[in-house]
Order: sequence, then structure tokens, then C-alpha cells
Amino acid sequence: MNPKYIMELHEEYRKRCLNLQASENYLSYIVRRALSSDMASRYSMVFDAEVHGVYVHNVYGGAYYQEEIVKIAENLAKEVFGFKYVNVKPISGHVAAMAALLSSTSRGDKIMAISPQDGGYDGYSSNYLPEMFGLKYVPLPIKDLRVVDVDSIKREKPELVILGASYILFPYNLDEVLEICEEIGARIIYDASHVMGLLPSGFQEHIEKCDLVYGSTHKSFPGPQGGIILSNNEEMMKRVERNLTWRVQDNYHTHRVASLAMSLDEFKPVAKLYGKRVAENSHRLALNLHEEGLEIKYPPEFSKSHQILVDEKKLKENFGLTPPEMSEILERNNIIVDRVGRIGTAELTWKGYKENDMERIAEVIFLALKGKDVKGDVEQIVSLWNGKTLGEIQRART
Ligand SMILES: Cc1ncc(COP(=O)(O)O)c(C=O)c1O
Repeated sequence: MNPKYIMELHEEYRKRCLNLQASENYLSYIVRRALSSDMASRYSMVFDAEVHGVYVHNVYGGAYYQEEIVKIAENLAKEVFGFKYVNVKPISGHVAAMAALLSSTSRGDKIMAISPQDGGYDGYSSNYLPEMFGLKYVPLPIKDLRVVDVDSIKREKPELVILGASYILFPYNLDEVLEICEEIGARIIYDASHVMGLLPSGFQEHIEKCDLVYGSTHKSFPGPQGGIILSNNEEMMKRVERNLTWRVQDNYHTHRVASLAMSLDEFKPVAKLYGKRVAENSHRLALNLHEEGLEIKYPPEFSKSHQILVDEKKLKENFGLTPPEMSEILERNNIIVDRVGRIGTAELTWKGYKENDMERIAEVIFLALKGKDVKGDVEQIVSLWNGKTLGEIQRART
């Protein structure tokens, strides 16, 4: 098949789907447009220092507007997230994690991070980043995905504690972790990949006290695929800059930075409203699914983030399904969720769907799992959307 048709087919297909994938979001036209702009094939690398014995401002020519857009993105990110220092260069959340780890540890250090069994990011477990950077990994025990066992930190005395996870429903007991880390002289960094879009509405109180906050720009935050690093610690951010260029990456893709600037600009006026609605939608979707019989973990709160988690044991008991089987049945009905039991509300919230819509969506999910063909109902729910994101609606008003 001609590759160009694949793009069209994919877009037509995804337009017909209800996307409830927790790691994804929707990009408005202007945010996408930047990704296919001329910057997509250009370089820019500002040094203001000697490179191979000669002083250079930028290693490449023709980069005036690229330099401008980086400054604009950085300033917008400072405003949106409320940190003094920002780095928009990491080309992904994982690359941001590499730079954050390199900047906060030395070879041989002990690090503690939430284990994949408790929903932690696989990249932090022994044989991935810790092995690559010569670090000793110790799992950070956590109860109900939210209460970190601070005594274990006191006992283990790591040089670094990493908070944040791929399954993240609630804020952590960060104040206690900060206190213990200060007592034992450990650094603390926060992987906010999943909750980046929820930080401006206060998802995690006192996050600004962490040495580094970093993550993806495309999960709950409605930006292009990429990464970002935030901090109030100037020294740490100088290290981040040193560790990014020619260590974990070279070119940082200025079309992506331009796209990020567009998304930050669009997001800024509605950041708080969006975060509040994401949490409301998650709670309502969870409550309705739970009441219908698709049991959701951690009742009665269920979630304060953009994700809810299906109770796998009850899914098997009540529907005879595993999470991948559930996902496949829903996919056949144009409802997209991942294969690991997470259901996400970020994209639908960014598209303006509210609590009442969640009630209907829960009903349709339930019917699909009971074996009914709900493609027609999904089509109807999808057609409710007016094609504008929350940010675009706000911009049209002002
Ligand atoms: C907690 C966490 N950190 C980092 C990553 C990697 O992010 P990216 O896909 O942007 O590289 C993920 C991926 O899902 C994640 O869940």
C-alpha cells in the first residue's frame, strides 16, 4: 500500500474512536502544524562558547526563529508550571529521565524508585537505566500507589529517591519524603510524565521543592511527544544542560519545541479548569463503571488523576476477561484503552467532554464487555464533539 494512504486511513480510523488511553492526548491543529513545519528538517545548537577551538554562538546558521521559539517555549513553561528554570530539549520523557538521573547521581550510588509491581516505570528497574549508569536500584515500597514507606528510605539511605510512576492515581506523601531526604542528605526527583498536565491545577502539593521535576509532554499534558525538565535549583539545571547535549542526545528537534510552545500557549488559560475536569471525569467514569459491575480499584476515591485502574481479579470473576482481552473487545467497538488495565480521561477532557458524558461512556463500555456491538453508540458519542479543544474554545472567546 502507498505509505501516504496509511496516514489518511489512520486519521480516519482514530476520528471514529473514543480514545481512553492514559498515555495519550489530542493535539489541536496549530500544535500539529508546527510538527510538519520547515523546522522539522533544521538544526539549531546554541553554545555561546568555544567549540573545537573557535567561539560560536550557534553551531548552525539560519536558526534565528528556531532560537526565538526555544526562548518562547521556555518562558511559557515557566509561567504554566511555576518553576524558575526550564529545559525543553529532551526529545522524550525517557530521555528527560536519563538526563535527570545523570544530573543527580554518581556511579555506584544507591537509588530508590517505585517498582513496576507497584506501577513504577520499568526504566528505573535494575537492568535498564540503573545498570546503564552504574547505579544500585532498591525498590521503594509504597502502599495503595500513594503512601511511600519513608522508614525504608531512612533504613536504606539512598543517594537518590525517584517519585512518579506509570500508574499514578493520587499525590504522594511528598512532605514526609522531603523531610526524610533532607535528614539523610538524599536528592529527590519526580517523574511527572503521566501527571504533567495536572501540575498547574495542584495535583502534587510542594512538588516545586523537588530537585528536578521532569517527564513527557504528551500524556496528561496535551502537547507533542517529547520531554521537559523543571526546577528551582540553578545548579541542578546547569548539570541537566551539560548532560543533555552529546551525552543522552544531540539535536533536540526544534519543530517539536515549536509545537510544545503552541501547546503551552493554548493550555495556559485553561490549565486549572482542565486539571479539575480531568479529576472529575476520572472519578465519575470510575464510579459509574464500578456501579455497572466493572470494578475499579481504590474505591471510593478511585483516582485524582487522568487514570483509573480496572480491578483485574474482579474483571476475571465478573466478565471472564484479562485486561488485554478487555482491551481487544473494546477496540473492536472503537473504544481504545491500553492492554494493562488503565483507562484514561485526558484526551476526552481536552476535547471538552464532561461528567455527564462519562456516565454514557461507562454504560457503553459495560455493554461492549457484555458482548453487545456498541459501534453505533460510540459513533454517536464521538459526534458530540465540536472539533475544538478546551484551549481553542477559550482562545475563540478572548
Ligand atoms: C512514568 C514514566 N516515565 C517515563 C516514561 C517514558 O516516557 P516517553 O514515552 O515520553 O519516553 C513513561 C512512559 O510511559 C512513564 O510512564
